[in-house]
Amino acid sequence: MSDTIFGKNGWTPDLMKSQKGKIFLITGATSGTGFEATKILASKGAKVVMLNRNPKKSEDAIAAIKKDLGNNVDVSFIQIDLAEQASVKKAAAEVLEKVTRIDALMCNGAIAQVPTQKLTVDGWESQMGVNYYGHFTLQALLYPLIEKSKGRIVTVGSLGYDMGIKTIKFGDMNWDRDYTGNNAYSQSKLAQIMSVYELQNRLEKAGKVDVMAYACHPGSSRTSLIKTSGSLMMRIIFGLMKLSPLTQSAEKGAYPELMCATEEDLDQKGFYGPTGKNNWTGPVGAHKLEPHAKDKVVAEKLWELSEKETGIKWNL
Ligand SMILES: NC(=O)c1ccc[n+]([C@@H]2O[C@H](COP(=O)([O-])OP(=O)(O)OC[C@H]3O[C@@H](n4cnc5c(N)ncnc54)[C@H](OP(=O)(O)O)[C@@H]3O)[C@@H](O)[C@H]2O)c1
Repeated sequence: MSDTIFGKNGWTPDLMKSQKGKIFLITGATSGTGFEATKILASKGAKVVMLNRNPKKSEDAIAAIKKDLGNNVDVSFIQIDLAEQASVKKAAAEVLEKVTRIDALMCNGAIAQVPTQKLTVDGWESQMGVNYYGHFTLQALLYPLIEKSKGRIVTVGSLGYDMGIKTIKFGDMNWDRDYTGNNAYSQSKLAQIMSVYELQNRLEKAGKVDVMAYACHPGSSRTSLIKTSGSLMMRIIFGLMKLSPLTQSAEKGAYPELMCATEEDLDQKGFYGPTGKNNWTGPVGAHKLEPHAKDKVVAEKLWELSEKETGIKWNL
């Protein structure tokens, strides 16, 4: 077992204080790590607003949490489809109307390993559109309230950031050439992680010291991710992996994002996830991030491209 900054067992929710009075927003909380994170935050007294695409699954998730924790928990949802910029804008407007503060916006929802190239209605490769551009716009539109609340942005990345081409394919963002589900997923997760550190740079330049941005990942967790969007072959491979000790529970997969959303004095320059073998499982803490994910020239270019593509300018 590796020794993290939180000791041998790493960070666990036992270290989380009462979250009474705090409000957390989390995307993709109908299943997997998002659902588990919601439940743990609610158990600590927080108000949690899930940002989900499926109303029926959202109702079911709320019912399941209430069944476990009692009817007094404060969990609700606002509908969002991260694949459609119009829906993201509508959801952000609804958040700003209904929610009084944001202690952390947890960007957790995603699709993965989409077997064939698909484009979103806005014309982006689907994983880039949902995982990256959807959250880019959501973050920018909610930023003013996050700033007012001295809150945080937490991005759930993936070790996949290091399993693709290790830079942004600016000349072919939609993978019209050489599409593979893995390369395009990896690209979207690399973009998500790069934008966290670029946001930190921009916040610093603007003299904004009260908003924190964190990057983390859940290791290898038993969730619905591949079942929802992956190919039959991928589903079989991940189905077998789930039976092995190479994976951990969805609950444990939620710990890194919960730590980043709640832990005080956490260094935002770090990258957080399981610290065991291959960073797939094990005690949660900080671990190595490969330098290509912090390439400032690429990150700056990506940010500028993202503002142009989405038409959304951050008010920093
Ligand atoms: N599981 C792992 O081993 C692993 C490894 C590395 C990284 N991750 C990351 O962990 C995060 C959580 O994933 P998970 O493993 O918990 O998978 P999951 O169980 O499939 O959860 C993904 C969530 O994202 C939502 N979602 C998908 N497309 C959406 C859209 N267009 N708009 C709004 N919400 C959408 C899903 O909603 P629906 O219920 O409507 O489908 C679901 O709630 C993701 O960022 C993923 O990339 C997971």
